[in-house]
Parts: sequence; structure tokens; C-alpha cells
Amino acid sequence: MKVLVIGSGGREHSLVWKINQSPRVSKIFCAPGNGGLRSLAECIDIEATDILSLKKFVKEKRIDLTVVGPELPLTLGIVGEFEREKLRIFGASKKASKIEGSKSFAKDLMKKYGIPTAKYCTFTSRDEAVAYIKEIGSPVVIKADGLAAGKGVIPAHNVQDAIDAVDLIMIKKAFGDAGEKIVVEDLLVGEEASFLVFTDGKTAIPLPTSQDHKPVFDGDKGPNTGGMGAYSPAPIVTEDLYRKIMNEIMIPTIRGMVAEGRTYKGVLYAGLMISDGKPKVLEFNARFGDPETQPLVMRMKSDIIPVLEATIDGTLSQIKIEWDERAAVSIVMACEGYPGSYENGFEVIGLEKVSNRKDIEVFHAGTALKSGKTVTSGGRVLCVTAIGSGIEEAIALAYDAVEKIHWKGVHYRQDIGKKALDRSQEKKTHK
Ligand code: AMP
Ligand code: GLY
Repeated sequence: MKVLVIGSGGREHSLVWKINQSPRVSKIFCAPGNGGLRSLAECIDIEATDILSLKKFVKEKRIDLTVVGPELPLTLGIVGEFEREKLRIFGASKKASKIEGSKSFAKDLMKKYGIPTAKYCTFTSRDEAVAYIKEIGSPVVIKADGLAAGKGVIPAHNVQDAIDAVDLIMIKKAFGDAGEKIVVEDLLVGEEASFLVFTDGKTAIPLPTSQDHKPVFDGDKGPNTGGMGAYSPAPIVTEDLYRKIMNEIMIPTIRGMVAEGRTYKGVLYAGLMISDGKPKVLEFNARFGDPETQPLVMRMKSDIIPVLEATIDGTLSQIKIEWDERAAVSIVMACEGYPGSYENGFEVIGLEKVSNRKDIEVFHAGTALKSGKTVTSGGRVLCVTAIGSGIEEAIALAYDAVEKIHWKGVHYRQDIGKKALDRSQEKKTHK
């Protein structure tokens, strides 16, 4: 069969890598793709949001299955567009992806169905938001309602910073229309974890637990990024917590979405804050996480194609997914300056030194090919992923590979996986 993957990040490279292992797949296309996945897929110069061109391409090439990576095509309605023409596509519908596309929608859903999350209020008036903040005090988190490429969430530790954040979003319109409405919510403290399930709206099959590293610098310092590294499993998620997450969060959310007439099919990703053994939802995403997908697919032993198809067909109850017991770690190598402004076009040196290493994959994100050389072309450039007998070995393997690669101004965190290592003595982790 022929498969199209939509997107251009490390997540999409890892999906292409996994799909390529399926004996059923003869050809993979990626739109628009990146410099690194060209050996596995034919990159097509169509943007992920150009739904009509994507549909035309799929019909012309008689592609059997399309897999959507990023959120934007989902919230724009790519799934409905494809399904109307009987084209098979993996991803959440426009109505279902509102769970990521509108934070106020997600919060109201959680409130209605009793899903644990931070206390919040929604505003369309700047003055009312400011009055509320003055009343409740700090710390609070100010969130643009709509999609803001992961930048629309501003934690504020005093009232003035909170008001400034409201003004940035609502008056200066830093995130455009996404900030016409805002959510003001209590700041939660604890440790974050990512929890993803495949769901067809009836059955939910969890992927193993994972954890992202959002801030740009070691020790969780500096501004939040798309993610500077990830690992799986996440030892913070004990067996007990795992059951709570499924029973109190994932299953009620999936049922709630059905009850709202927004049946959710695809990957549902909950970003969680864990405190005192209790999980609360920070956000839902309507897609695979980036970089969580990279360690997760390294641990996936089963063919991914039947899982994607069963999600579309509503037959996930017949599927069993086998996972590697070992641990996987991904380290993101980024450009100096990211997540702010950065320069591009630097040659990436040393890739050949790690290209044939066992248990290591270098997933590309912001790379391009220029005169036969790999050059940087984005903020997050590479995602070096290793699988090892335990978290310690996976970390060592991944950093050993990272150290062989460089370019001018390369930046990566030195402490990816440290939280897992610190907890690795604890037993009863859900693998
Ligand atoms: P979101 O886009 O809602 O996922 O938020 C992105 C990141 O902001 C999360 O992964 C957290 O690190 C942080 N965040 C969001 N909401 C809260 C909250 N209520 N309390 C503390 N941190 C938060
Ligand atoms: N890892 C964060 C995200 O995918 O949104």
C-alpha cells in the first residue's frame, strides 16, 4: 500500500520510519517532509495546511492511507474533506480536534464530565479578565484560547505579570485571533507527564507513558519550547496512577466527546500535571506528541498500520499492541536562540558517524539538503533517539551519539531523562 504522512518534524520522521517497517507498505510520501526522511519517503512540496492540494495529490497517486502529524490541518478539517471522498485518513475530525483547537472548549468539557483540571474562568473582555485576576491573585496561567504554536500559555507569578499577559494576548494580539478569548486558570505545580491513547471513539489503547521536557534549559529553566527531549516509560506514572489516568481522564473524555456529538478517532494526548499521586489535565492535544512520538515508536514492536486502520474502522477492540520493555530517550538538538529567533543554514556535521549505530535513530526536524549537504532549517533540528536496557543505558547511548554531531550554535539540554533516572529505583512503574 501507499501511505502519505503530513508534516515536517521529528515526529513525522519517526512515523515514516515506523510505517516503513510495515511489510504491507510499498511506498511512502511525506508532505512537506524534511532533509532527513528522504531516504525513506518521497518528499512532496505541499504545505501541511494546503488541504485541497493534498487531496488532489492523494487521488492522483492513489494513496491508500494518509496520516496527519500536526494539529493545524486537523482543526482546519482535513479529515472531513478526505472522508467525504472516501479517502482513508488517520486523525481527529474538525469537531473532535476542537479539544486542542479551543482551550475554553476543552476546559468546559472537563468541567461538564468531571475530569480533573485546574480551576479556570474564560473571558472575551480584557477588563473582566483583569478584575478576576485582581480578585483571585497570583500565581495564575493566562492562555490564548486558540492555537498559538505552543506559545499561547503564559504563567504569571504576580498580578502585574498576569495583567501584562492579558494585554499581550488581547490588546497587542500577539497570537492574532487565537487570543480573542482567553482562559485564566490556577497555576498547578508538580511533575508533568504525557499520556497518549489510540481511540476509535469506543475503545482506548494506551501507548506507554512518556515525559516531555518543555523548557529550553537544564533544570527546567528558560522559556517553554515545543519540547527539548522525551523518554518512555515515565516512572512517575505508577500502576495506580495509570489506572486513575485511564478511568478518571481518558475514558470519561472519550465518552464525553461521543455525548457531545464529537466522536474522537485518532490519537488523544493528555498533557498532565501530577501532584501527590493525583493527575490533572493541563491540555489535550488531538495528535501524536513531538518529541514523545520518537521514543514511543522506537518501543513499538507491532506493525503500526493495522493499528491506524483499526482506529479509522472502529475495530480497535480487536487490536493488541506489543511494546518493547526497554526504555527509549530522545534528545532534541536545537539552534542557538530557539524558541526565540535563530539563524539557519549551518551545515550539520557528523551525521555519518552515528548513522549505522544499533539502537540509535537520528530523526530530523528542521533540516534541509543544500548541495548534497544537510543544513539547519528550523528551531528544533534533530531528535536523537536511543533505546537501551534501562533508562540509564538509553540516556548514555543517546548522548554519546549527540556528542558526535554539531553545527554552529548547536544547543541541547544535558539533563534529558534525569527525572526518570532519579526515580528509577522506585518499583511498580507502568512500562
Ligand atoms: P498547554 O498549551 O496548555 O499545554 O500548556 C503548555 C505548557 O504550559 C504545559 O505543558 C505546562 O508546562 C504549562 N502549563 C499549562 N497550564 C498550566 C497550569 N495550569 N499550571 C502550570 N503550568 C501550566
Ligand atoms: N510535546 C508537546 C506537544 O507535542 O505538544
